[in-house]
Amino acid sequence: MSTPDPLKTGVSKTLKFDPLMHSGTRRHLLSINDLSSEDIIRLLDSARSFAEVSKRPVKKVPALRGKTIVNMFIEPSTRTRMSFELAAKRLSADVVTFTAGASSISKGESLKDTAKTIVAMGVDAVVIRHSSAGAPRLLTQWVDCSVINAGDGMHEHPTQALLDLYTMRERLGKLEGLKVAIVGDIDHSRVARSNILALNKVGASVLLVAPRSLLPAGIEEMGVEITGSIDEALQWCDVLYLLRIQLERVSESRFPSLREYTLQYGLTQTRWSRLKRKPLVMHPGPMNRGVEIASVVADEVEPVITGQVAAGVAVRMAVLYELLGGPTGVGGSD
Ligand code: CP
Repeated sequence: MSTPDPLKTGVSKTLKFDPLMHSGTRRHLLSINDLSSEDIIRLLDSARSFAEVSKRPVKKVPALRGKTIVNMFIEPSTRTRMSFELAAKRLSADVVTFTAGASSISKGESLKDTAKTIVAMGVDAVVIRHSSAGAPRLLTQWVDCSVINAGDGMHEHPTQALLDLYTMRERLGKLEGLKVAIVGDIDHSRVARSNILALNKVGASVLLVAPRSLLPAGIEEMGVEITGSIDEALQWCDVLYLLRIQLERVSESRFPSLREYTLQYGLTQTRWSRLKRKPLVMHPGPMNRGVEIASVVADEVEPVITGQVAAGVAVRMAVLYELLGGPTGVGGSD
């Protein structure tokens, strides 16, 4: 296993390049379960080096020159789609992004036929977002390249969890022992699921704050505590992680009304202003201002939330680099 020249890649010499989930000679990132705590910490360290690249006047290193990455977004996205595209470009990979509406999927072509078509053109990785849980794993059976899960239905969003842990570590200096409260629509949230898995692996404690109707059955088995009181959580936590009420996936019958939800579970201006010790407030975006977070509070904590977005580019650079290796196929040849 050769180590890339940091002058050419812009990456620290201390990085290790171990494979993530191996499937034959291909490597994938489908779930946080594919990663050990050491994998997570190594990726976060790698992301810190890549964050430095994004601050340079010329935000580009030749680490993935000659590699081709397809971003396949079958469900809407702003942050994840753009940051995967920027990450690939900053690593000098060739990148093609397509969305369902602008592809033959809108004419009824299946995911399998679409995947086969893409791969016939010779690609090294497919980044996929899909409304169905398990679509990325299915894709690995049809393509001979790396697959990265960019969010699959209500299942997982592993790179979101990695960028969230990156943000927590950069802002608070540690992960082990951190107290993280995740508030809101846990049931529909792939972000919550991936964050719970990742936070457990690195030794943080997780408290879920939600009405019973927005908690999946058996969630306690994931090693979390549960409360119905955001005020209790605010007294306890170092990080308050707010989730969007997924209006496209949840009917209001899960709780009496949005107004009722805000009163009981929202980070309202009143709650925020009476806190003596303010936690780090995070949100994966997009926010429903006035529902899970008051607009004035959102404005106040905006640097952290946009910091999460910036971290997304660095973390995705680290993931792409680790999966695809350097120009000489670091970490195993295909
Ligand atoms: N956090 C997140 O996945 O945002 P997008 O849906 O905009 O990608």
